[in-house]
Amino acid sequence: MNKPIGIFDSGIGGLTVVKQLRRFLPEEQLIYFGDTARIPYGTRSRKLVQQYAKEDARFLLQFDIKMLVVACNTASSYAIPLLKDMLDIPVVGVVAPGARAAVDITQNRRIGVIGTTATINSEAYVQEISHLMPEARVFGQPCPLLVSLVEEGWINDQVTVLTLQKYLQPLLKEEVDTLILGCTHYPVLEETIRRVIGTGIRLIDSGKETARVVRKVLEEKHLLNRSRGRAEDRFYVSDSPDKFKKVGSRFLGQTLDKVETVDFEAFLVGLNAAQFSE
Ligand code: DGL
Repeated sequence: MNKPIGIFDSGIGGLTVVKQLRRFLPEEQLIYFGDTARIPYGTRSRKLVQQYAKEDARFLLQFDIKMLVVACNTASSYAIPLLKDMLDIPVVGVVAPGARAAVDITQNRRIGVIGTTATINSEAYVQEISHLMPEARVFGQPCPLLVSLVEEGWINDQVTVLTLQKYLQPLLKEEVDTLILGCTHYPVLEETIRRVIGTGIRLIDSGKETARVVRKVLEEKHLLNRSRGRAEDRFYVSDSPDKFKKVGSRFLGQTLDKVETVDFEAFLVGLNAAQFSE
């Protein structure tokens, strides 16, 4: 089916998921919305994240998308059931695919999860893993400083290594054999994390697992784009595109030339007016 896939995140981080979607689904057009005006989501309450997620989804629905991918771990942790109820297209978040991959790979059934404070507090990964493997022990560790360090470009910096050592120490003590990178930004730190934890622990990139699941869902529902050629991906942000372009190119591994800024406030006013008159 020749319709785009909609994908949203709180900002730039979701581009790590775009990178994987492009790898697994090179024939599909992606329409990305990064809510750069309201980032971070990872420090917000459940209620606010749910509201933002609904609004982000409504923005993407304007493009007649055939599927919604929630790239943001925080939004996936709080809003997937709600979005599934709200929409009549398939909705895929990053938590369930990451949890599934961890369960498939762990040997000692001791799984670590790192993410934003909201993601860890939500216990979304714990619930998903417990559902798949009730005997598994899950150890969550919020790592709120990592988002800023990655956006600053301090990938191999000593400050980042020390921060990772401090955050990961409790998980190493628990002898986890699998570690879920439960935040959009963390795949960028994969090598640095590896330096800190050594070679014995398996790392799960939730974004990569999500791209596999998206492909599978599209196949099962006969929604893959079979037509020749594909329209260009489109990127929208709710605040100035400058940082998004600069930092985003690093996340995506490719330059980002065309990024459009949306007047999201005006969009929300229109949305509320339309709902009021219904
Ligand atoms: N995209 C968010 C996540 O994956 C990280 C950035 C934020 O806190 O908004 O949880």
